[in-house]
Amino acid sequence: MKENILITGSTGFFGRHLLSYIQEIPSNDKNIIAGVRREKEAKKDQLISQYQIRPFDFFNTQTFEDALEGITKLVLVRPPALKNTKRYILPLIEVAKRKNIKHIIFLSVTNTEKSKMIPHLSVEKYIIESGIPYTIIRSGFFMQNISRLNKKEILKRQTITMTAGSGKANFTDIRDVVEMTYSALDQEKFINKHLEVTGSKSYNFYEVAEMISTHMKKKITYTKPSAIKFIREKVKEKFSIQLIIQMSAVCNRIKLGKSDFISTDFAQYMGKEPRAIETYIKEEF
Ligand SMILES: NC(=O)c1ccc[n+]([C@@H]2O[C@H](COP(=O)([O-])OP(=O)(O)OC[C@H]3O[C@@H](n4cnc5c(N)ncnc54)[C@H](OP(=O)(O)O)[C@@H]3O)[C@@H](O)[C@H]2O)c1
Repeated sequence: MKENILITGSTGFFGRHLLSYIQEIPSNDKNIIAGVRREKEAKKDQLISQYQIRPFDFFNTQTFEDALEGITKLVLVRPPALKNTKRYILPLIEVAKRKNIKHIIFLSVTNTEKSKMIPHLSVEKYIIESGIPYTIIRSGFFMQNISRLNKKEILKRQTITMTAGSGKANFTDIRDVVEMTYSALDQEKFINKHLEVTGSKSYNFYEVAEMISTHMKKKITYTKPSAIKFIREKVKEKFSIQLIIQMSAVCNRIKLGKSDFISTDFAQYMGKEPRAIETYIKEEF
């Protein structure tokens, strides 16, 4: 029987990378269902509309029953704005348990124990306590955040503006995280594991600017304004407030040294080295 897999956050940055990846797998034997809160828009979306769509809203717990009907596995991606996990994610896990979901794969962040304030840790706890088989994929800082937030300014003004100070981050290729998520869906070795996915080395933004400069043969400068100035600049560049807040929080973790953490789990479980930031830079710039 085909597995029915519900993916939450499917229209977001990670969700889209995951769905694009699955689209390219000719041998995909899973029935993938995108959980979306804006069904009309999703039906018009070129990528999302390739998949079955089901209404799903974390803030409307009444959508959980129908969304999980007949689902065998859940890929749980938490929207960055959702902080009250007890109110909105715990009930989802309870419905999942009642519906006999066989496996939950949760996208978390590296070194969660070091940041007790971030919501991912409580979600991990709810999942484990539910007794549902799980895979917790704790990802490092996506390299692709640079494409998302800094590419335009790099090309236009030769600057990277972030508030990460001199802190180092474990730049992680989102494609590695996506591949591991897909592999975890049907391989026994991933069951009941916490896996940390990171690049193989940490860098600060000075070093990243240097690497991009070398590749582009153009001087790219890293600037680190105050948090307020960063927010103002990014608002002016028309980024969403949600993304700016998310990136400010992530930069704060980097600044405090919490993202300077490397793991070999990816190589051990996927049998290959994680993608290097140099490769990403060559492809992207
Ligand atoms: N960025 C990183 O470097 C990084 C690293 C490790 C882990 N993570 C984690 O990855 C997760 C996802 O991040 P992302 O960057 O993909 O987020 P994102 O781009 O902001 O996407 C959020 C997704 O959640 C959906 N959503 C928002 N509110 C919802 C609601 N009330 N009900 C149902 N769906 C809702 C959004 O749908 P709409 O399209 O309708 O808005 C969208 O699909 C976060 O938990 C983040 O902490 C990020």
